Order: sequence, then C-alpha cells, then structure tokens
Amino acid sequence: MNTALRHLATGMVAGCCWLAAANAAELHLELAPGEVQSLSTEQLLARPDVQTISIPEDVAYKRAMTYRAVPMAALLAGVVPATPVQMVALDGFVAELDSTPLLNTSPGAARAWLAIEEPGEPWPALGPDRPSAGPFYMVWTQPEASGIRPEQWPYQTAEVRITTSLAERFPAMPPAATADDTVQRGWKAFQVHCVVCHTVNRQGAAAMGPDLNVPHNPTEYFAGDFLRQYIRDPAALRHWPQGTMPAFDANILPDDELDDLLAYLKHMAGRKVMP
Ligand code: HEC
Repeated sequence: MNTALRHLATGMVAGCCWLAAANAAELHLELAPGEVQSLSTEQLLARPDVQTISIPEDVAYKRAMTYRAVPMAALLAGVVPATPVQMVALDGFVAELDSTPLLNTSPGAARAWLAIEEPGEPWPALGPDRPSAGPFYMVWTQPEASGIRPEQWPYQTAEVRITTSLAERFPAMPPAATADDTVQRGWKAFQVHCVVCHTVNRQGAAAMGPDLNVPHNPTEYFAGDFLRQYIRDPAALRHWPQGTMPAFDANILPDDELDDLLAYLKHMAGRKVMP
C-alpha cells in the first residue's frame, strides 16, 4: 500500500506511540519462529555496516532525504529468498513483503535499507498531527532498477519477522490449487494491495474494511463495471467524508493486475467458508 493510502489508514489509530518515536526505540527482529531479538537504536547505529545513504525521491517524505541505515540483506542474514517477511508498524499496521528483493545486493538491483531515526536528530513529521517515519523505516536505493513499489517502503516500523505464507496461516484465503493462472496472479495482487485492510472468508490479519467474500462477495452485488470503477476510485462511485478505501489508479494497480484481481474475487465467490 502506498503512503497516501497508509496516511488515510493511520488517521484511524490512536497516537499512543508518537511521542516515543523521537527517542531511542527497539527493533524486534524475529528471524526464526519464537526467536525474537531486541535491537536498540544505539545497537543498530553502532553496527559496522551502518552507512549514510541518500534517497533522491523518498516515498514517505516525497522529497530527497538522507539517512543512517543498515542494509536489509545484512539484518536478514540467513534468511532464504522467497520467504514471507512482515514489517509491523507501531500502530499494528502489517506490511507483507517477500524476502527476495530485500536480500538482493547485486549492483544493478534496487537495494533495501533499514533507516534508523537518530535520537538527537529526529526526522520531520509526515504531516500535520502526524509522527515521523521513525523509529525505523525501510527505504531503497535505485528502487526503479527493480520496480520497487510504494507499498514496499514501510515506515514507523517496530518489528521485522519471518512468517509462513498467508496461505499457510489462513487456508481459506487462497484460490483452489487447480484454478487458472489469472486467478493465481489475482491472489498475488490481492496480497500486495488488499490484504492489509480486507479479510476473505473472515480470514487474514486485517480489520479495516469489510470481508470480501462472506456473507456476499462484491462480484455478486456490484453490477457490470461498477466493481472495477469502485477499486479505481471508490469516491467516484459513492462518496462520504469518512470513506477510507483508497483509490487504486493504473500506476499502482495496472489494468491487467486489476483483471487478475477481479478473477480471484470471482473465483472466491465459489469457495465460501461460512464462519
Ligand atoms: C487502507 C485500507 C484499504 C485497502 C488497502 C483496500 N481497502 Fe477496500 N475498503 C476499505 C474500507 C475501509 C472499506 C469500506 C468503505 C470505506 O470506508 O471506504 C472498503 C470497501 C471495499 C469494497 C466495498 C465493499 C462494499 O460492499 O461496500 C470493496 C469491493 C473493496 N473495498 C475492495 C478492495 C480491493 C479489491 C482492494 C485491493 C485492491 C482494497 N479494497 C484495498 C479499506 C481498504
């Protein structure tokens, strides 16, 4: 999910931790189930692999930024590619990522860093009445080299953990193994864009938007092209001040990915699990 969407989403949470953000913080790193290491800001800043990096187009701040940062590949040493990685924010927001790009250190590829907010030099607020992107924020150098998307820049991070896949944790969410490629790609797109806010068959970790399969799947009650229109711009279909479902334009969700996503949703209408 990109920062604009996240901005909307964070409007809904209490500000319990904002004041703490500028002070020293702890990163909880879980690289194996149940084995949590706590790394303080000081410990991270004292690592020999800390570097000063420049980010010409920072996603959270929408301008050039400079950070003290540790390579994600070093932090995740021992993790294999294609492992699901969750980055949990102070407010409980969970970004679901894949370890593959995070581990990539080849010169031509985008490189992921964990930026560390220094206690003496707090980062600016992300907006009026909002905290900074700290205490930890994952940023990328040459993101364009690997097509890194805005939702792969999770900020206000407090925890990084390796998990089993969503499909393993929530077996009623994935499509049938026999479903066609379009549906399988749609399930991937759903995990990138929608799973942070929506459950399917009441499964998943989200609690922001309505369940998208039970009791009724939106492909069953949005006639014609209205579902596509709704995802592209919810307010264009029905508008009210408290609406928080973000718009997904073609830059974030290309047309073919939207087609796949709709195929997945439609497929799931035939796989309802009533709680
Ligand atoms: C930031 C959280 C968020 C994300 C991300 C998100 N949604 Fe939503 N969605 C909501 C909320 C909240 C609602 C309820 C309406 C509102 O408040 O705007 C909603 C409503 C909907 C509805 C309307 C359901 C109904 O019956 O009214 C559909 C369909 C939907 N979302 C699909 C999607 C799809 C598909 C994606 C991924 C491309 C997605 N949403 C991503 C938060 C989100």
